Amino acid sequence: MIERTLVLLKPDAVQRCIAGEILTRFERAGLKIVGLKMVWIDKDFSKEHYAAHVDKAFYKGLEEFITLGPVIAICYEGVSAVEVVRKIVGPTEPKTAPPGTIRGDYAHHSYHFTDKKGKAIRNLIHASGNPEEAKVEVALWFKETDLHTYGTVHDGHVL
Ligand code: PPS
Repeated sequence: MIERTLVLLKPDAVQRCIAGEILTRFERAGLKIVGLKMVWIDKDFSKEHYAAHVDKAFYKGLEEFITLGPVIAICYEGVSAVEVVRKIVGPTEPKTAPPGTIRGDYAHHSYHFTDKKGKAIRNLIHASGNPEEAKVEVALWFKETDLHTYGTVHDGHVL
């Protein structure tokens, strides 16, 4: 039940200087940061991370977007962390993401708009889609020695 999951604050989140506000949302839910780093990935790494999407029409724009500046990569740990993080982040398209979710509160782009422009949707965050994907993605972004085991004040309440 205790899972680890990968969150990326994409270049739009970093360049809009809202990283702190976004991290606060996960902290408030009691999720534990077990790894965190800033990385400027290249096109080869993008292809590894988005391996499932490289053949899709939107991939070129997605690669341009994810490599345009540094991202902040976080490994979170918690009860059903994969599902809980996805709930806090909201659906992929900001236009349809409900208020209260990060994408719904901080962005508004639609697929219709970005597809017409040939750009990737600016949706601030990547979050692993399921526990299997999370294992693969955490291993891609973090060495085991970069991930920490420690206690937080939440441990007595949520774990
Ligand atoms: S899919 O195709 O159902 O797996 O799509 P999804 O998991 O929602 O998103 C795939 C990633 O591609 C990013 N992206 C886009 N998807 C669809 N259409 C357009 N135009 C598009 N542009 C970018 C989308 O944000 C997902 O990446 P992450 O990093 O997970 O948000």
